[in-house]
Formats: sequence, structure tokens, C-alpha cells
Amino acid sequence: MSSTGAVTVHPTARVRGRVRLPGDKSISHRYALLAALADGTTTIRGYSSGADCASTLSCLESLGVSIARERRDDGFFVRIGGRGLAGLTPPSSILDAGNSGSTMRMLAGVLAAHPFEAIIDGDDSLRRRPMRRVIVPLERMGARVTADAGRPPITIRGAEPLAPLDFQPDVPSAQVKSAVLFAGLHAEGTTRVDEPVPTRDHTERALQAFGARLSREGGAIALEGRQRLTAQALNVAGDISSAAFWLAAAAALPGSDLVLEHVGLNPTRTAILDVLRRLGASVDVEVLEERANEPSGTIRIRHAGLAAATIGPDEVPAVIDELPVLAALATHGADLSVSGAAELRVKESDRISALAEGLRQLGADIDEMTDGFHVRGSRRLTGGHADARGDHRLAMAFAVAALGASGPTTITGAGAAAVSYPEFFTVLTQLAE
Ligand code: S3P
Repeated sequence: MSSTGAVTVHPTARVRGRVRLPGDKSISHRYALLAALADGTTTIRGYSSGADCASTLSCLESLGVSIARERRDDGFFVRIGGRGLAGLTPPSSILDAGNSGSTMRMLAGVLAAHPFEAIIDGDDSLRRRPMRRVIVPLERMGARVTADAGRPPITIRGAEPLAPLDFQPDVPSAQVKSAVLFAGLHAEGTTRVDEPVPTRDHTERALQAFGARLSREGGAIALEGRQRLTAQALNVAGDISSAAFWLAAAAALPGSDLVLEHVGLNPTRTAILDVLRRLGASVDVEVLEERANEPSGTIRIRHAGLAAATIGPDEVPAVIDELPVLAALATHGADLSVSGAAELRVKESDRISALAEGLRQLGADIDEMTDGFHVRGSRRLTGGHADARGDHRLAMAFAVAALGASGPTTITGAGAAAVSYPEFFTVLTQLAE
């Protein structure tokens, strides 16, 4: 199966079993970037097997970082030789972020503090995504960042020294917050980010794990610059956004019972569990450990009927990556209305229009709004053909919708799942009964 390849998904009565997920994508990126800036050698167990996190590693290698990776039972084991604060070296070619917005935006923050020129480019999907949201604050800190109409490729000339920034993002975005904090780590003085709506806080937790002092009060984060980081031995828990596909499948199909082990349970990521409960599922969570300030544990989910739910603007940032699969779940007989999610239109695809088109082709009743959608799960899907438009989360969401259809579904572009979850279609065959 290539990234444009097709997969056929057959209707399934229920899903049952135990699952381990790939390492969390958001945390993997951050650990790799901070390890590169730390003093000493960091080891990371359970590093994400997805292509996005591989893009971060290869960009870092092009910037002089020595990296060894080994495939193990629990994901990749990665060893990163830290180059110390501002220690990256000029790349000899264009840095390729592939499909990964996180790589491009967060690496831009790191490069803003390195006094050389670097170009970061990506695939066709990434070239359509907005970058002004990182360009504006990084330029205010003194870096020079150019991009044609605010889209990749971006060219960065870092500044030394970099000025600290008081920043109030207008889009709630953990990537933008992180880019500013990574730049702020190198600045002369204290950088402050004041978030209007909270977003995932892995960067704040990871900075502290690497030994940085950081203060947090409500949505305000203050980070003093020029703090040196110390290498760590780290462990990445399973990705709850990948778990979301199995959680949705189990919530949808009567008789389902799944246990997801060693899943990341950071409270800025678990809103999906609240939404699943509102949609009718039985969800039990046990926090078993906390490493490097990141809690993890077990989630057990059982089908317990389906209900109606709404998701509004305040909750959207906390479930932004799970919205496609929640729409897929709703096609099984729930009712889901989402508003305040215009941001979905600038993800790996226009996730509102591609989702509505794909689900409609499978027989769903879905309305598309400028900033959201409404799925009425009152009729059974027929199956058919859906195009993932090269978007990993759509490929997997369509597969979850297809489980409840009366006939088979062919998903084109299904290979895109490898961006975050290469093992997805294999695991699906193991859990489906
Ligand atoms: C991410 C933040 C979110 C999310 C993305 C990963 C991160 O993006 O959609 O998949 O790791 O910080 P935005 O920051 O653009 O909201």
C-alpha cells in the first residue's frame, strides 16, 4: 500500500481486545527537538513510528545532530546527541518537513535562534498550510522569516541575540505557542505566552523535564531565556489521538469491549473521553504512572448505546485532531454537532469539506458549515468509495465509519495513515470480529 494506495474495509460486528498505541506524536516531536538543544545524550523509548516524527529526526540530522534509532517492540528507541543551546549547524540542503506542520512550525522556533539561513519545505499538503502565525511572532523576536503568501517553503535567518516576547496568540495553537517558547529559551530575558484558550501543554511539561524553570499561572506561561537543558532518559506513552480511532469504533459497535494500554493521559488531551461519554460510551480510566510530568495509564471502553452531543468553540482546541473520527462515530447512530472549528479547514486537508464529502459518499447525512458540521446518524451507511485526500486522520476516520456500513468501503489514499499510525490497518484486522 503506497500513500496513494487504496484499502477496502469490511463491515464489522464489534471490536474486542487489548491494544498498544504508537508513541504520542506531539510528545515525540518535542522530546526530539529539546534533546537536540540539551547538553548530553538523551534516550527516548516509545518514540512515534509515524512518518511525521521521522521528519523531525531527519531535519535535526541535517542540522548536525547525531541520531541513532532502533525498532523495538514498544516503538522506536532513539538516541540523540545534544548540541547544547543554539548549537545546531547550518544545513547543506533544504530541510524537508514532509507532511508535518508540527515539524515546520516548532523547528522554525528553534531556528529563529540560530544565526544562519535555513529553508524548510514540505509536501503539497504542507505547502498549503498557513505559516504567518509563527512568522509574525518570530520576526518580532528578531528573526527574519520569509514565505510566499505566508505558505511554505519558509526561509529563516535566525538572530543572535534574540529578543524576548510578550505574546497573545490570536489562534489557539500549541504549535505556535511551542515555536515561541523554543525561541524564547534562547532569548535574552523572559518570554511570556498568554493563551486565550488552553491548548495541549506538552512543551511546558517537556521543558521542565529537561530542567528548565518555567512559571504557569492560568493560561500565562513565562520562560526565562538562556537556560541550559540537561539530557534525559525518556519514555513516550501511547498516542491518545491514535487511540481515538479504536475508542470511537468500540463506542459505535454493540458488544465492543477494548482495553488500551499505556496511553498518554495528559489532561489537555483527554477531552475526547468526555465527549465519548456524552455520546453514550462507557469509559473507565486508570492513571498508572507519571514520567517526565506526563501521566499515562489504561482506558477501557465499552459500547453502551449512542446519544446526541454538541462540541462548541471552547472545547474544540482540546479535541481538534479527534473531530474527524467523532464524525465517523456519529454515523453509527449518534448525532453530533460541531461549531467553532474553522481551524479544521487548514489541517492536512480541508477537514470539513473532505470529511463531509467522504462520509456523504458512504451514505451519511451530514451538513457542512463554515466552522463545523452536523452529522445525523439516523440512517445506516451503505459503504462505497471515499477519498482520504492524502490526510492520515481522514483515512482512519473513514475506516471507522465503514465498520458500520451494509457493504464494503474502499478508501483511496489510505496509506496516509502512516503519517501518524503505520500499523493502523493491521491492528484493525486484529480487533475486528
Ligand atoms: C499539535 C497541535 C495541534 C494539532 C496537531 C499537533 C501539537 O495543531 O492539531 O496535530 O503537537 O502541538 P495546532 O497547533 O495547529 O492547533
